[in-house]
Amino acid sequence: MRTPNDLDQLWMPFTANRRFKQQPRMISGASGMYFTADNGDRLLDGLAGLWCVNAGHDCKPIVEAIRAQAGTLDFCSIFSVGHPKAFELASRLALLAPDGIDRVFFSNSGSEAVDTALKIALAYHRARGDGGRQRLVGRERSYHGVGFGGLSVAGVGAHRKQFGLLLPGALHLPMTYDKGRNAFSRGEPEHGAELADALERLVGVHDASTIAAVIVEPVSGAPGVIPPPQGYLRRLRELCTKHGILLIFDEVITGFGRLGTNFASHYFGVTPDIICSAKALTNGSVPMGATLVARHVHDALMTGPEGSPELMHGYTYSGHPLACAAALATLDVYRDEGLFERSAAMAPLWQEAIHGLKGLPQVVDIRNLGLLGAIEIASAAGEPGGRAQAVFQHCYERGVLVRASGDNIVLSPPLIISQDEIAILFGAVAAAIKAQA
Ligand SMILES: Cc1ncc(COP(=O)(O)O)c(C=O)c1O
Repeated sequence: MRTPNDLDQLWMPFTANRRFKQQPRMISGASGMYFTADNGDRLLDGLAGLWCVNAGHDCKPIVEAIRAQAGTLDFCSIFSVGHPKAFELASRLALLAPDGIDRVFFSNSGSEAVDTALKIALAYHRARGDGGRQRLVGRERSYHGVGFGGLSVAGVGAHRKQFGLLLPGALHLPMTYDKGRNAFSRGEPEHGAELADALERLVGVHDASTIAAVIVEPVSGAPGVIPPPQGYLRRLRELCTKHGILLIFDEVITGFGRLGTNFASHYFGVTPDIICSAKALTNGSVPMGATLVARHVHDALMTGPEGSPELMHGYTYSGHPLACAAALATLDVYRDEGLFERSAAMAPLWQEAIHGLKGLPQVVDIRNLGLLGAIEIASAAGEPGGRAQAVFQHCYERGVLVRASGDNIVLSPPLIISQDEIAILFGAVAAAIKAQA
């Protein structure tokens, strides 16, 4: 029988399907810092897959752990039964998390980790007899995945507009992006800590007694790598504490060494009540999300009859054995190879290299923190994002994979990137930008 393998049937996510199918870009393999295209060309991975392959591709200990697990316990749910690796992984994550955050709920993606966090926040207040707190606060120009919860608090209009009203009662803080005052900042920009005070205004309008949680990406990634202004996160923490509002950090991108620390919470010295993680948790090898919860939030829910589930929430594949095995091996690699320390050590070089693109035609801003970066390119009239797309395509054709997000080229390489590879990456991006002039 013929094996069907047309392009038509697959509806690709976040992709211009019709354009792609006219000009497909097929990947057939990956190793270390490189993808291999189906024509045999190598592609330097400037995005760690999609912000997830922090230890590099085809990392042998992780591959072996998945293989071994598949042959031992392929599947077991953790609804009312358990398997040891799920408990081991939760214990390991509790050790990596900031002090006070030591309870872990597993899911399969960043979107689910976020929706889990939002639901825990609502359930927490209700369990404490404060069930009027139902509003969830996000921020303009943020990304929290594609579930209805995460989308409701997210702040990119283009992601939301197809899907109607979303959750009632969601509110948004102003975005922290301020090109006028902060363009070409190195690391955290100087201006804008006061934007956190917008939470006071929301409290003034809606009253704290209606607000359950604030969720922010410590560094906004997908919408264009936007580091927080100096002092902003600390101020937000203080205001949340003052008003009894839970603070959720969505660390789906910033977790696991992206900023040279376990989590961005450590980098900024600000501890939220809940952390959402995914992606690099398994080095991207098996889908997994983890919502890390402060003990006090968890304990508030450990009430009611002991024989009843305390949280009516969970996914068939929460704590999937393959994902747990992959994550445990991944954490070992991060530790044994010192990848978070390596990331911290490479960050100054990364910063120099990315800011070396200042002055190229149409480059209107450059942002960076840790091993994250974005180059913003002014769009041509009537063609938003067009130049960034052209830069992406130009780089792809010359063996470098970057991502276009709106008018930005966003970058987030595996933490194993070398000095030479940093030079190749930015050399390709610079050439591509010049070619658009
Ligand atoms: C901050 C943040 N939250 C959530 C998500 C959603 O993760 P997933 O695509 O695994 O659902 C992403 C994905 O990029 C993200 O960057």
